[in-house]
Amino acid sequence: MSKRLFIQTLGCAMNVRDSEHIIAELKKTDDYELTDEISDADLILINTCSVREKPVHKLFSEVGSFFKHKKSGAKIGVCGCTASHLGDEIFKRAPYVDFVLGARNVSKITTAVNTPKFISTDINFDESEYAFGEFRSSPYKSHINIMIGCDKKCTYCIVPQTRGDEISIPSELILKEVEKAAKNGAKEIFLLGQNVNNYGKRFSNSHEKMDFSDLLVKISDIKEVERIRFTSPHPLHMDDKFLEVFVNNPKICKSMHMPLQSGSTKVLRDMKRGYTKEWFLDRALKLRQMCPQVNISTDIIVAYPSESEEDFADTMDVLEKVRFEQIFSFKFSPRPLTPAANLTLIDDEVASARLSALQNRHSEILDEIVLKQEGEIFDVYFEELRANGAVAGRSFSNFLVQVNGSEELLGTTRKVKINEAKRMVLYGQLV
Ligand code: 5AD
Ligand code: SF4
Repeated sequence: MSKRLFIQTLGCAMNVRDSEHIIAELKKTDDYELTDEISDADLILINTCSVREKPVHKLFSEVGSFFKHKKSGAKIGVCGCTASHLGDEIFKRAPYVDFVLGARNVSKITTAVNTPKFISTDINFDESEYAFGEFRSSPYKSHINIMIGCDKKCTYCIVPQTRGDEISIPSELILKEVEKAAKNGAKEIFLLGQNVNNYGKRFSNSHEKMDFSDLLVKISDIKEVERIRFTSPHPLHMDDKFLEVFVNNPKICKSMHMPLQSGSTKVLRDMKRGYTKEWFLDRALKLRQMCPQVNISTDIIVAYPSESEEDFADTMDVLEKVRFEQIFSFKFSPRPLTPAANLTLIDDEVASARLSALQNRHSEILDEIVLKQEGEIFDVYFEELRANGAVAGRSFSNFLVQVNGSEELLGTTRKVKINEAKRMVLYGQLV
């Protein structure tokens, strides 16, 4: 009988893909099957995130609960970014953990499972040319890594310490994976990397010069691919060539993530982001002008230690001018091993007030944006069955759209007229 694997994934899309690679490797080498029941599992894995303090705390409460509920003889492994940065401290705080496997060491999973107290957290380990086995959590869309690591030095960010230097994956490997996924029915390809539009700066071995715009074009040439998405691009590398390919290629979905972090040029400099408020506004407004249907999302950190009221007002000003369709906003959270780790924090009440002001104003903007979608017709690619006979999918510009329907809709793209628009989902009917 095959062994059972329970895996919990925290954090970003990169971690979701790493989990898919872990599952693929364990199926291939050790005949594991997935289970949703911890008490049924022979192997319990948690794939962790360390970008903010909260998910790190969550790790220890989660593994504690795994230990309580696991069956006798079952192993517990901690993988991912927190495994990279805490290393063997995890064994000290949770001695019942069997192995620790850092992000960027995923290919060692079988050895980790079979070696007592295995630990590997090398952030320079190079998996850029490793051919992982095949496992995808959705038949309709396929996440594909195009690079590993991050070369930026944003002062608040722990990722360079957990995922190491940036290395691009050779385009031949990426194209082969895309072809395979598309032939298996994934009409949407989702490209992943920390700074995707910096693709091609460094490969492990010699490789023909290719930038992200060229890669997008090559992928769009594959017939079975209908939609291409990617995350995250960096505002600094949004040159005209990139914007033109993004806007004019008919297979590239018109949604752009532009992580602002702060609207103040002074804070951006302190964060070492490499661009100014003016550059960000220029790129975002140019994009809106070139492509009126684009949805722009962003990440914003409030209360970075050097942020004054005036700096925060600059962030609010960018929000007013760009009118993002979606924001992910966070209070600054000091992270170990980062240059901003020991700076004096802004009073938490002030930080909370800024976060609320930002989120409340964004909710008002979003209400206006979604209301305008009522009566619009979108091409929706359906991917998910929901409760009570509903099916959900994404418009080309990335609105979540839901209709009444059944599983025949899954994997198809249909025209939908929006009847009722809510902040998180647009309700419509097939036309
Ligand atoms: N504190 C708060 N938010 C952070 N992020 C990254 N590091 C921190 C930190 N130390 C946010 C950024 C990033 C997103 C993934 O998480 O906005 O874009
Ligand atoms: Fe992803 Fe960053 Fe969290 Fe690692 S720390 S899982 S790269 S968000």
